[in-house]
Amino acid sequence: MKLDHIGVAVEDLDASLSAYQALGLPSSHRETVPDDQVEVAFVPFSGGRFELLQPHGVDTPVGRFLAKRGPGMHHVALAVDDIRMELQRLRDAGVRLIDAEPRRGAEGTWVAFVHPAATGGVLLELVERAAESDARG
Ligand code: CO
Repeated sequence: MKLDHIGVAVEDLDASLSAYQALGLPSSHRETVPDDQVEVAFVPFSGGRFELLQPHGVDTPVGRFLAKRGPGMHHVALAVDDIRMELQRLRDAGVRLIDAEPRRGAEGTWVAFVHPAATGGVLLELVERAAESDARG
């Protein structure tokens, strides 16, 4: 598994993008992810990227995170080749999952979250890039 991105919950995407730009890290891409009720922007760096997440309201998963914890690191995402196989492997190993089945993430990826209880408190996202899933049909 390889680092795909680091998710950061933000209250104001435009303000956060300006702040990262000031650090010398411009945004590459921005989109709405309906499944997660967020608008996201990606900020690449060597070896990975930040995924800035602004929720579409307080009564959403990221909205509730912000209300409880404030802005900051939300999750770490690792890239996997075959997310269904990986979820099966984790289930078999007794690892606690949030998503039993993969669902749509940003950029047409398939994603699933592992429960923080399984990782020492880090919300872990598994990401399978679209090309691989499309190739498999
Ligand atoms: Co993510």
